[in-house]
Amino acid sequence: MESSKKIDPAERIQNALRELRASVRAYRRETGKAASPLLSGGAPMVSIRNELVVNSVCTAQREFLLPLVPQGGIACEVGTSTGFFARAIAMFTKPAELHTIDMDYSRFKDSYFEQDSGLPAPIKHEGRSWEELSKFDKYFDLIYIDAGHSYKDVTRDIEAASKAIKPDGYLMFNDYCRWSIEQAEPYGVLAAVNDFANENNWAVRGVALSGSGHFDILLSKNNDVMNARNKEQVEIWKTTTIEPPEKEPRRNS
Ligand SMILES: C[S@@+](CC[C@H](N)C(=O)[O-])C[C@H]1O[C@@H](n2cnc3c(N)ncnc32)[C@H](O)[C@@H]1O
Repeated sequence: MESSKKIDPAERIQNALRELRASVRAYRRETGKAASPLLSGGAPMVSIRNELVVNSVCTAQREFLLPLVPQGGIACEVGTSTGFFARAIAMFTKPAELHTIDMDYSRFKDSYFEQDSGLPAPIKHEGRSWEELSKFDKYFDLIYIDAGHSYKDVTRDIEAASKAIKPDGYLMFNDYCRWSIEQAEPYGVLAAVNDFANENNWAVRGVALSGSGHFDILLSKNNDVMNARNKEQVEIWKTTTIEPPEKEPRRNS
């Protein structure tokens, strides 16, 4: 009788990584080409134009990008999960309206927005992100995109968001990277954002680093008026002390 040896889950990952690395090296040896296009989930390798980054700031965490956005506007988080970052958006941008979009609200914590929190109760939209976004026309001042992470999904969200955002509004993206260390899968956010910025002349206002390498990026339409306003907001940020909210034990997705 065959003995079925139970493999330790950590060992299974180490084995898979070893096998993947060997396959990547073999691919290069046998074809003379880099395997990166096979690991990118169909996302092109695209750099953002330099003039679109010169007015940007760099922050340590994503919460610190929020003071660059004017307060009291209409904000929307696309892909909200527990509502953890929707709460940060509410705390730091004090929106007149806070909208959230998700296809699954089972993990959402209404307790983040209880009456005594002083934060506005979110207006929840349930459904596919790009479909829900397409119901709005030049409505939002800030849209935070963190739903599907494939190149195709993010491109669809950006297309819908670019119509739902006001002409002087801001688009912000979580997971601005090409590969997820948390999911071990390609992320198309970096390529989709760079494509959009280059083609539509949107400038980077800030990039937030993170220990995991899942960066955030904040963009607005590139014009001189916005650049002047951005500088004023950077001054406000420099003189304001902001404590990021207490971290959740782990992110589910
Ligand atoms: C990474 S979580 C969001 C985390 C949240 N933004 C935060 O920072 O705390 C992604 C969420 O997007 C939702 N989602 C993924 N693809 C979606 C889509 N195409 N339409 C709507 N929701 C989607 C998932 O249900 C999940 O709750």
